[in-house]
Amino acid sequence: MHSTAFLLILAVGSWAQDRTTEAGEAAIKDPGVECSPYGYPPVTAQLSAFPPSAQRAKILPSDTTAQALWRDISSKVPTNIAVKPASGPPGYNYDGSDPDCWWTWSRCVSPKQPGLEPDVADVPEPSTLGYGFDDGPYCGHNLFYDFLASKDQKTTFFFIGTNVMDYPLEAQRAVVDGHEVCVHTWSHPPMTSLSNEDAFAELYYSMQIIKLVTGVTPTCWRPPYGDVDDRIRAIAQALGLQNILWKYDSDDWQFGSNGVTKEQIDANYEKMLNDGRNGLFDTKGAIILSHELNNFTLQEAIDIYPEIMSVFKHVVPVGVALNKTYPYVEKDFVLPSFEEYIHGMHTATPDDVDIPDVSNGTNGNSSPTTISTPNAAASSSAPSPPPQAPPPAAPDASDNGALTHFTFISPMIVATAIALWMLAC
Ligand SMILES: *[C@@H]1O[C@H](CO)[C@@H](O)[C@H](O)[C@H]1NC(C)=O
Ligand SMILES: *[C@@H]1O[C@H](CO)[C@@H](O)[C@H](O)[C@H]1NC(C)=O
Ligand SMILES: *[C@@H]1O[C@H](CO)[C@@H](O)[C@H](O)[C@H]1NC(C)=O
Ligand SMILES: [Zn+2]
Repeated sequence: MHSTAFLLILAVGSWAQDRTTEAGEAAIKDPGVECSPYGYPPVTAQLSAFPPSAQRAKILPSDTTAQALWRDISSKVPTNIAVKPASGPPGYNYDGSDPDCWWTWSRCVSPKQPGLEPDVADVPEPSTLGYGFDDGPYCGHNLFYDFLASKDQKTTFFFIGTNVMDYPLEAQRAVVDGHEVCVHTWSHPPMTSLSNEDAFAELYYSMQIIKLVTGVTPTCWRPPYGDVDDRIRAIAQALGLQNILWKYDSDDWQFGSNGVTKEQIDANYEKMLNDGRNGLFDTKGAIILSHELNNFTLQEAIDIYPEIMSVFKHVVPVGVALNKTYPYVEKDFVLPSFEEYIHGMHTATPDDVDIPDVSNGTNGNSSPTTISTPNAAASSSAPSPPPQAPPPAAPDASDNGALTHFTFISPMIVATAIALWMLAC
């Protein structure tokens, strides 16, 4: 009877899982189930339009849109900045005066090349935390997102493109729940070690996969490891991405490696919290680096949350702290301003969320974003140019093999479950 009961649980378990919609995926609370792979037709239908998952991005030979945009942008990249070693500064023969404003070298956040916007490394509002998490979507994140929802707390998620590709419904949840989404590259490389063109590809395809999956295109990014210099800043800025760094680091990702303990991570958070208690944020706020990486980093964020709330007057998404009410290229999505947020309006404008709908086999949001180059637009203060190329046809989930990857509830399983149930009674 043991195996019968087991089969029954298995059958009922798969009955309960809807892995075809954001709401269905968000309802799964078992991280083991959450983290088992699934296919999502709007993504599987477009796999050939993206670099392979878990590989460094390259501009695809077939992608004439990306090639044209890159040709346009490439002339804006400074030519006097060398590609850096992937291993970082040690042993690298570099001018110690830091002519490239290389954050990894000197924590430089004010570009030295003309025409580049400064990084955001703290927030201008006093006693305010620009709250955010890197490296998601982490497949097992539902308990954490539930926690944020229970507190009516919004945050900024810096998503890795390949994670969005692999866990699209989890990425949708961030937008549906009213959080802000920024880019954290396609494959998490040290960006200053890449060629201009590959750095472009890392950012471009991250923007495109987030657009495909959530319907919106970010206008902010965070470099993995903070590894940015004026060459990389120029490429990101030409793509319309504002650079968000930090001044406090929880180093939560280090837990469990080299004997790093929870107490050490707590102490990293405490450093910022003590600075707050000592009045360091009385004239401007802070940003701390934390991760949506695994159970530990998210549980740690939950555990520390009450203390964060007791030290800061306001804990808001980074974009809200900057009054960035249009966080995306698409202007139909509006975030609350800082004033609105701190007076209780925590949600994006209703009806803004327009995620792909596969319930009837179509996807209305699949056209890639045509990214206008903001430098050019700003200098002429002209509106964005019209799309340069017709978008490819919307994918139709009914005419490809994607659906076979789906976790559908087989009628067989249901029939077996009913039979076993009757047997058990
Ligand atoms: C982390 O895992 C523990 C043990 O399974 C669980 O109780 C806890 O709710 C999890 N935390 C999060 C944020 O998922
Ligand atoms: C945000 O808007 C408020 C109200 O208009 C203003 O007081 C504040 O200075 C703005 N903050 C930023 C960073 O622009
Ligand atoms: C499917 O849904 C889309 C978006 O809601 C809609 O535009 C389209 O007409 C629908 N197609 C069918 C066949 O119902
Ligand atoms: Zn990261």
